[in-house]
Amino acid sequence: MINMTNEIFGRDADKIVRAFLDSVHLGQNKYQVGCDYVEACVILGYIVAANNPTYFVEAGCGLGILSLTLSKMGLQGEAYDIEPSLIQEGKALAATLGINLNYNLQDFNEWNSSLPSGSFMIVDKPRGGLELVVLSKAISTKCNLALVPPYNLGETSGEILATCESYMRALMSQGYHAESVALSETLPLRVVLGTTF
Ligand SMILES: C[S@@+](CC[C@H](N)C(=O)[O-])C[C@H]1O[C@@H](n2cnc3c(N)ncnc32)[C@H](O)[C@@H]1O
Repeated sequence: MINMTNEIFGRDADKIVRAFLDSVHLGQNKYQVGCDYVEACVILGYIVAANNPTYFVEAGCGLGILSLTLSKMGLQGEAYDIEPSLIQEGKALAATLGINLNYNLQDFNEWNSSLPSGSFMIVDKPRGGLELVVLSKAISTKCNLALVPPYNLGETSGEILATCESYMRALMSQGYHAESVALSETLPLRVVLGTTF
C-alpha cells in the first residue's frame, strides 16, 4: 500500500506514517487517511521531481512529508506553514530522519521572495483563499505550480475534477501548460500541475 514511501524512505517509512497519525485528528473524516495520505504526498513528490525543479517552495507544508520526500531525492527547497506546532513536529521528524530541510513558520500570504527560474511552488489543500494567493504568486514569479485543491467532505470525484479544471483554465489563460493527475486510488486527491515550459 505504501510502495513509494518505502522506496524513498526505506525503514523510516513507518516513522513518517506514525508521525502523521500522531499529528492529525482522523475522527470524522470519511475518507481513509493515514498510509494512503502519506503515500499520496510521496507520489506528489515523484511527480514534482519528474519535472526537474531547480528549487521548490511548499506552502502549507504541515509536517512537510512532501518537502521531506523532495529533500530525500536531493532537491533544494523550503517548507512553510502558519501553524507553530506543525513546524515544530516537522522539524523533529526531519531530525529523526536525518534530513536537512528548511522549515519556516510564516503566513504564506505574506511570502514575497523571488525564486530561481524553473522553481516549483507546491501547495496541498490550502484553505482560506491561500490557493488563489499561491496561484497568483506562482504566475507573477513565472513559477511552476503543483496545487492540490481543497475538497469538502461528500464532494464527488466529478466535482473535485471540476475544481481542478477551473484551476487549469486559470493557468492556461496565463500561458501555462496545465494538467490534472490523480494522486491516490482511495482518496479523492488530485493535483493540478502548471508548467511554464
Ligand atoms: C492539508 S494541510 C497540508 C499537509 C501537508 N501536505 C503534509 O504533508 O502534511 C494544509 C496546511 O496549510 C497550512 N496553512 C493554511 N493557511 C496557511 C497560510 N496562510 N500560510 C501557511 N500555511 C497555511 C495549515 O496549517 C496546514 O498545515
